[in-house]
Amino acid sequence: MTPPAFDYQEAFSRNLGWVTPREQAVLRDRRVAIAGMGGVGGSHLLTLTRLGVGAFSIADFDDFELANFNRQAGATYSTLGRSKVGVLADMAADINPELSLRRFPDGVGEADLEAFLADCDLYIDGLDFFAMAIRRAMFAACRRLGIPAVTAAPLGMGTAVLCFLPGGMSFEDYFRLDGADETEQLLRFLVGLAPAGLHRAYLVDPRSIDLARHRGPSTSMGCELAAGAAASQALKLLLNRGPVLAAPRGIQYDAYRNRARHTWRPGGNRHPLQQLTLALARRQMQRLAATAPAPGASPRPEGRLERVLDLARWAPSGDNTQPWSFERIDDNRFIIQGHDTRAHCVYDLNGHASQLAVGTLLATARIAASGEGCRLDTEFEPDSRAEAPRLRVRLTPDETVQPDPLRHFITHRAVQRRPLSTRPLTAREKAALEAAVGPDYRLVWQEGWRARQRMAGLLSLNGKLRLTLPEAYPTHSSIIEWHARYSDDRIPEQAVGVDYLTARLMQWVLGSWSRVSFMNRYLAGTLMPRLQLDILPALLCGAHFLLVARRPPADYRGYIGGGEAVQRLWLTASRLGLQLQPEYTPLVFDEYVRTQTPFTDHAPSQARARQVSERLRQLFGQPESDGAVFLGRIGAGQPPRSRSTRRALADLMPGN
Ligand SMILES: Cc1cc2nc3c(=O)[nH]c(=O)nc-3n(C[C@H](O)[C@H](O)[C@H](O)COP(=O)(O)O)c2cc1C
Repeated sequence: MTPPAFDYQEAFSRNLGWVTPREQAVLRDRRVAIAGMGGVGGSHLLTLTRLGVGAFSIADFDDFELANFNRQAGATYSTLGRSKVGVLADMAADINPELSLRRFPDGVGEADLEAFLADCDLYIDGLDFFAMAIRRAMFAACRRLGIPAVTAAPLGMGTAVLCFLPGGMSFEDYFRLDGADETEQLLRFLVGLAPAGLHRAYLVDPRSIDLARHRGPSTSMGCELAAGAAASQALKLLLNRGPVLAAPRGIQYDAYRNRARHTWRPGGNRHPLQQLTLALARRQMQRLAATAPAPGASPRPEGRLERVLDLARWAPSGDNTQPWSFERIDDNRFIIQGHDTRAHCVYDLNGHASQLAVGTLLATARIAASGEGCRLDTEFEPDSRAEAPRLRVRLTPDETVQPDPLRHFITHRAVQRRPLSTRPLTAREKAALEAAVGPDYRLVWQEGWRARQRMAGLLSLNGKLRLTLPEAYPTHSSIIEWHARYSDDRIPEQAVGVDYLTARLMQWVLGSWSRVSFMNRYLAGTLMPRLQLDILPALLCGAHFLLVARRPPADYRGYIGGGEAVQRLWLTASRLGLQLQPEYTPLVFDEYVRTQTPFTDHAPSQARARQVSERLRQLFGQPESDGAVFLGRIGAGQPPRSRSTRRALADLMPGN
């Protein structure tokens, strides 16, 4: 079917009612200049085209790239690499084929500002936030030429609008940029744009704003709201309607906060309130510059095998020991060489904690391989043994393999040791977690206030045992990276789950065993740490769970299988937005008691271990305890702010 001929009246007839037919004719006759066809400029152009504005001058020197996808109206897979001006001109002309478009695909410089603004009735700012020099020149040219200029900044999930009208306060008078270096100019621009600061309340990661490096976060909601707000001002200005709020007045509307704030800052950034906000913002910038950067996403390795291993290394292991290394055989095969920590860790005397970790690694590698369309076949090497499991792994492309949705959570899963919500798990959440562990395992739950109290009792006793056990001292004194938020090979202090003062006390006490035993004997030294590490977390969570193997593990291979179930459970919890913390050590002591593994000569510790074992069995029952492979707590809550990271892939592949 041939489309009907384009008819302007018909195409924009639904504007009528909000605009009169005469006003529509005026809009058709007007030219608007928009510099920047990116996040907000592209949306400005399309919104004003649908309003029926008949002519535009548009400029941008950039081409579309992937990082534009979250917000830029013209950024799609088919426009990757194409000029922004070309793409947006096509899109606008597709809405109104009669449009008069002047294109500036090389952007605008100071030399062609007048050509760009020629015949324009209005300028709308769509320039990159960080393009300060040309923005200043543009606003100055508008003022010289008597052209009103509007800026609607997308900020968070809202927008802040400022209008600079001929004869009113100028851009320079408002922002006070003269004499400031570039970073300071950007700061003044940001603070001046939105004096109400509504967006600041919900920025989840302040480090995402880095003015010096020209980096800042954005949302498509912000851009669309900005386009709506700017076009509404444009309509009023082009049609000479009603009052327009002009600098030093501004308005910020924030859809996330459900708030709109009108601000009035005579003197612009010279206003005392602005001076105060600027001083605070400068302080925050300095503080942020001094904090450790978040562990950066390492560049994606080239080879498929390396990509799989690069994700697999994010598997969890007790105390973040990462008891494994990788040997590359060829492009599709590698060996996982595990080891255990029985020589120096009292929690790993039978190697089960390390074997579980090898299992979490294997599950993670399998899930990562699914994202590459590969099956993972594994085979124990002939010389594999409990102390040093050795697995030959092969990646095979397989059309029947579906990408596992858990793969997106591999790097986000992290242990949360702080209190969680006491909201019970929903039936849906429990069903998903039970399905995650597979048919060979089952979950036994401890739910409700009474059950959590009993778990707190068990864990408090277990905590006392851990903190007073002489053989645990070497582990405790070496696994925490003090003062750290991230740690590659240990647990960073801030992820331990105690407050700052308790951390300082712990650091001092753990400096020597004599301090530990003195504190324990005379100063109830275990009380504060146990309250924060064991009792409160046990009470404050949705549920505790015991992961039980239907057939108790017969040897180390059984524990590796158990580790696979642990990781699928943990990643599923992450996918559900739940937080999880292992409570593994009661199982360790229960096993030592059951198998009469000598773990200490310290008689009170032996007695406590027997008590831990009895309580565990009272809580979960005999057969469950015999097949138990993992114990933990789970619940809704915020992800941790601090976490263990991992050794680099190159470190884990010695000799490759
Ligand atoms: C077998 C095993 C036992 C663990 N036991 C405990 C535990 O008893 N208490 C605890 O807080 N975390 C425990 N963890 C969590 C690890 O300390 C944590 O996974 C590791 O430090 C890596 O940090 P991430 O999980 O945040 O990446 C255990 C993890 C594994 C795999």
